[in-house]
Amino acid sequence: MRVLITGATGLIGKDIVKLCHRNNIQVNYLTTRKSQISQTENYQGFYWNPKTLEIDTRCFNGVDAIIHLAGASISNRWTPSYKKEILASRTASTALLVNNLKGETHTIKHVISASSIGIYPSSETKYYDENFKTSKTSFLSKVTCAWEHEVDAFKQLNIMVSKIRIGLVLSDKGGVLTEMIKPTKYGVGTVFGCGKQWQSWIHHSDLSQMIFYVLQHKLSGVYNAVAPNPVTNKEFVKSINRVLDKSLFVVKLPKILMRMVLGEMHTILFESQRVSSKKIEDKGFYFEYHHLEPALIDLL
Ligand SMILES: NC(=O)c1ccc[n+]([C@@H]2O[C@H](COP(=O)([O-])OP(=O)(O)OC[C@H]3O[C@@H](n4cnc5c(N)ncnc54)[C@H](OP(=O)(O)O)[C@@H]3O)[C@@H](O)[C@H]2O)c1
Repeated sequence: MRVLITGATGLIGKDIVKLCHRNNIQVNYLTTRKSQISQTENYQGFYWNPKTLEIDTRCFNGVDAIIHLAGASISNRWTPSYKKEILASRTASTALLVNNLKGETHTIKHVISASSIGIYPSSETKYYDENFKTSKTSFLSKVTCAWEHEVDAFKQLNIMVSKIRIGLVLSDKGGVLTEMIKPTKYGVGTVFGCGKQWQSWIHHSDLSQMIFYVLQHKLSGVYNAVAPNPVTNKEFVKSINRVLDKSLFVVKLPKILMRMVLGEMHTILFESQRVSSKKIEDKGFYFEYHHLEPALIDLL
């Protein structure tokens, strides 16, 4: 089997590449950085640039499935031009793949695309499953709705589509956890606002295993990629405190201050999404990390 991965050089992509290789699956990947192109038998890189509509279409040769992860980071300041990039790096990249397959002979049967739980409206009381009728309530929900809509275009090419709504990915190699533990070096734990917002997290290895499970079991449709037990922001900070065995001085950072520091991007710290993992569990997927503390012990 051969898969094509976009965003293979990123936090999640690197894990999936490793998992594919461990299972004797060969990997083609698309990258926007020519310096990242390598050409070994089981890891073949190809250049693309969704902004200029360039793509080396040899990337599709012999490919059975696409795992589409590419997207500009949402952790940079959301200036008007960067907001356009956040959106276009997901929608234009998807359209570029679809348009280059349209009318061509190919072997691709399945596309698994990243999506985000940011598609669900912020709520401290709702418990979201995949059937929730999503609406465009925030910048991130608008981006995610547009991204999922674009991904559905693969269906017109008779390609099965799976969309993985990813929660906060916990990793020791970057992402949200690395940022959250930075103040702990100074004995400080930071809670955002009153800390009641839900944070639906997932250990990075469970995420790559889940994406791989969807690939192997040919599961179509939408799946939330979150561990079974989301926690509030306050509980998250307390858990870090316990795992690091530190008596952190907990500081509550008010929304108005974070808005001044980060601009519109501050909203991601205050968004609350309590999200269900039941659908993928009902398909037989087993999470290694159900609860936050064992995941933190593993990572910290
Ligand atoms: N990590 C999380 O907590 C999280 C949560 C929810 C959803 N997601 C989604 O999952 C996907 C992968 O996340 P990640 O954490 O692995 O992200 P990441 O580490 O930032 O990697 C994303 C990859 O996308 C490619 N990329 C960046 N800007 C691009 C652009 N303008 N056009 C095309 N490709 C671009 C880059 O690959 P090249 O430089 O090789 O081109 C990069 O390696 C993203 O779409 C993200 O939105 C992640």
